[in-house]
Amino acid sequence: MNSIIKSISALEILDSRGNPTVRTYVTLEDGTQSVSSVPSGASTGQNEAVELRDGEKRYNGAGVQNAVNNVNTEIAKALIGKNASNQKDIDYTMIALDGTDNKSRLGANAILGVSMAVAKAAAISANLPLYAYLGGTNAVRIPVPCMNILNGGEHADNSVDFQEFMLVPHGAPTFKEGLRYVAETFHTLKGILKSKGMATSVGDEGGFAPNCSNNEEAIELIIEAINKANYKPGIDLSIAIDSAANSFSPNLDDNYDLAWSGLGKMTTSDLIEKSAEWLEKYPIILWEDPVSEGDWDGYIAFTKRFGDKIEVVGDDNFVTNTKYIKKGIAIGACNSALIKLNQIGTVTETIEAVRMCREAGWRYFLSHRSGETEDTFLADFAVAMDGGHLKTGSACRGERIAKYNRLLEIEHELKGRSEYRWK
Ligand code: PGA
Ligand code: ZN
Repeated sequence: MNSIIKSISALEILDSRGNPTVRTYVTLEDGTQSVSSVPSGASTGQNEAVELRDGEKRYNGAGVQNAVNNVNTEIAKALIGKNASNQKDIDYTMIALDGTDNKSRLGANAILGVSMAVAKAAAISANLPLYAYLGGTNAVRIPVPCMNILNGGEHADNSVDFQEFMLVPHGAPTFKEGLRYVAETFHTLKGILKSKGMATSVGDEGGFAPNCSNNEEAIELIIEAINKANYKPGIDLSIAIDSAANSFSPNLDDNYDLAWSGLGKMTTSDLIEKSAEWLEKYPIILWEDPVSEGDWDGYIAFTKRFGDKIEVVGDDNFVTNTKYIKKGIAIGACNSALIKLNQIGTVTETIEAVRMCREAGWRYFLSHRSGETEDTFLADFAVAMDGGHLKTGSACRGERIAKYNRLLEIEHELKGRSEYRWK
């Protein structure tokens, strides 16, 4: 078989928020065709790879015609004739061609689109499903779906400071059952919100954003929903939180202002005491970005205090970049890293970030972005990376469900060989 790249081209399409993003097409000499689409975040870390936006009048500056053009010209020229199965060579060729340390010249959106489409093409050409191509024959573990169910922070207009509350079906026997647990609880929560006269409209990731009067009410509504759906909190279903603390730290340091809930100014130790109270009261098993990205001492203190009980995940501080994850490992900030392909911009560098976590005995938590497309690359990638859990939105919105449905498909395809467990 000849998996030599014959052509690469791109197109400006829209993401789930109606903002432009890049869709990339790759064809190989053997006739294989593949397509990929790039996601986009809203609450981003300072050091993420740069999404190239046109900054012109169209789409209020958010157009990606320059990124598309970079794929069609420079990147295509550099990669045509290369073997699609040499993913590392393909990705490092693009990194060198870009020449910056944050992919700001060609655009991480241009580069990632090509990187993902090349991986898909190589998989098709090898006659393997993408998860098996990237993860090998033992890539059989279907991730526990940490389902976004309720939102605050920058993802909602309410009195909740923390950005995401997720349901974690770690007590389910299979992915299929886990997905049912969380989807049923999602619908039960909708009924509870309705009966209390609260809003049931959903945010960008499909979670509810009711006008709770404070942070505790948010979490108590979720526990009520778990019970009412006939599941046991802490046994069948637990809770994961992404504080996205950057959004209530005006200078991204150790000064916090919990303005949405009215709690007001807080220090890192105030936040840690509040977290201790919650961890005492509620079945929380994972906490992401409990402090802001500049508060490294805060991450260390939080991990020291709670890291033996729960998973402490760094997102905005690590941005899927081995440079920052390495620092985190050295100083004991967190015990897990969030992994988002578009934070770093190539499949190879994302795999390197995962490998670094694994070698340090850390966990790694695969994630979508708040702006997504119908591309299901993430589902296959999560199985391939064998990390055991992912977050990819709630039980509604097509671009989120597409990933869950792909995971159902993979589990079905693996038949008795699939595995499902939290740890
Ligand atoms: P984003 O948020 O995709 O809007 O950046 C997700 C997160 O903070 O995990
Ligand atoms: Zn986050």
